[in-house]
Amino acid sequence: MTEPKEGTPLPRRWEMSRRAFVGSSLAAGGAVIAAPLLAGCGDSENAVSEAQSSMVRMRINGEDRELTVDNRTSLLDMLRERAELTGTKKGCDQGACGACTILVDGQRINSCLALAVMHDGAEITTIEGVADGDRLHPLQQAFIDEDAFQCGACTPGQIMSGLGCIREGRTGSPAEIREWMSGNICRCGAYTNIVAAIAATAQES
Ligand code: FES
Ligand code: FES
Repeated sequence: MTEPKEGTPLPRRWEMSRRAFVGSSLAAGGAVIAAPLLAGCGDSENAVSEAQSSMVRMRINGEDRELTVDNRTSLLDMLRERAELTGTKKGCDQGACGACTILVDGQRINSCLALAVMHDGAEITTIEGVADGDRLHPLQQAFIDEDAFQCGACTPGQIMSGLGCIREGRTGSPAEIREWMSGNICRCGAYTNIVAAIAATAQES
């Protein structure tokens, strides 16, 4: 069957088949969308919010937490706004700066790119969970000793990423550290001192 030219009125058989196609697609898609919405048709607002929220259980910095979150909430926003752990910083909110780096089951990730509901049951470590009471983690102390920050905006992410870098054994040389820390941006340009702090901690551990 030859396609009609653009702008030419559609023959009736085309109109019918297109309508049939659109109609059946809407029916199928609409059923998926409408089912949760209509589940509590006496109270559609509750039905919508229930359909969009989930309870997540996580062990955060050694503490078991249960939090109800909108399904679209990032792990970063859940930590900052629901768990009230604001040490993890929001820089770009699109995976480009590393300010939001945390450890999930021991692996460093950008928490702005992860949905909270995808990590139900995970073990999370944020900058608030790194020190041992009043005793700083050796990497935190090294950041102070090496003068590895200026404004501090990137520092929680740098330290969390540095912990991951050391754990992964990517600290064989300053060049290797720079490569494996390259996802963490420092607008103040403290890179040389950050690398020195990570290298010093890696040597001691
Ligand atoms: Fe997540 Fe920038 S805030 S990478
Ligand atoms: Fe200012 Fe890194 S210390 S952005």
